[in-house]
Amino acid sequence: MPKLIVSGRGGSGKSTLVTLLARRLGEQGKVLVVDADESNLGLGAIFGIEPPGKTLMDYLGGKTAVKEKLVAMLKGKESEQVALFTEKMALDSLPPELVGWDGPVALMQVGKIEHSMEGCACPMGAVARDFLNHLAVEEGQWVLVDTEAGVEHFGRGVLEGVDAVLMVVDPSHDAVILAEKAARLAREAKKGFGVVLNKVDEKTEPVLKEMLAAKGIAIKGFLPYSPAVARANLLGVPLDAGALREEVDRLVSGIGGMLKRN
Ligand SMILES: Nc1ncnc2c1ncn2[C@@H]1O[C@H](COP(=O)(O)OP(=O)(O)OP(=O)(O)O)[C@@H](O)[C@H]1O
Ligand SMILES: [Mg+2]
Repeated sequence: MPKLIVSGRGGSGKSTLVTLLARRLGEQGKVLVVDADESNLGLGAIFGIEPPGKTLMDYLGGKTAVKEKLVAMLKGKESEQVALFTEKMALDSLPPELVGWDGPVALMQVGKIEHSMEGCACPMGAVARDFLNHLAVEEGQWVLVDTEAGVEHFGRGVLEGVDAVLMVVDPSHDAVILAEKAARLAREAKKGFGVVLNKVDEKTEPVLKEMLAAKGIAIKGFLPYSPAVARANLLGVPLDAGALREEVDRLVSGIGGMLKRN
């Protein structure tokens, strides 16, 4: 299962997890990180890769052009299925203006909200879904999708084009009940599902474990609170690729099944 979407409530650590996982998996193969968060801007800074010149929305002609295409496609159709891309795309042959590579790891952006009153971000969801559906990933390649907070991307069907959902749970009741909902939505969409605990310590970890166990949710790994990670984010500098190394290694083992093709 080579395409994973990383979900979780606001500030739970989605972008941090995506960065650490991408750098770690990059030691074994190629990793494309797709920034599907239409609001937040900081992923490139902690990943250490400049966002490339064009977003996927730019590449498709801009938001107005995409909206017009979507409206034309949806006219008379009952389902919300759209087809902006017509052919399968290999990870290696994506246009260079769209993808910023740093050795084996790369970053691309679906699109960002750029103007007041520009309308809802739904077109970006449709673009992300269709792009991921057409992205062909070979053995030894992974795609990690960083998302906006919450479960909007489930509603927009972005996970249609991925294999599994990795949910970040930080020490809060909110995160636990969101994980329960996400597990149900992932089941509905017939996608794999796993939970990673983040920013935990010896007091919060057992509490979260118990709360999640009571809801029948399996935990795939955990990342403790790390002052070095928090500081890099404060300063807007790249995360040390070796940060939380042991825990990230254990997590990669924990989600091994989700990272392999069926
Ligand atoms: N394991 C950790 N240890 C310490 N701080 C962490 C850890 N994980 C994340 N953080 C901090 O928590 C904050 C939020 O992290 P991050 O941006 O990764 O979350 P997010 O879920 O992507 O947020 P958003 O919903 O806004 O996109 C950042 O300041 C980050 O440095
Ligand atoms: Mg984020």
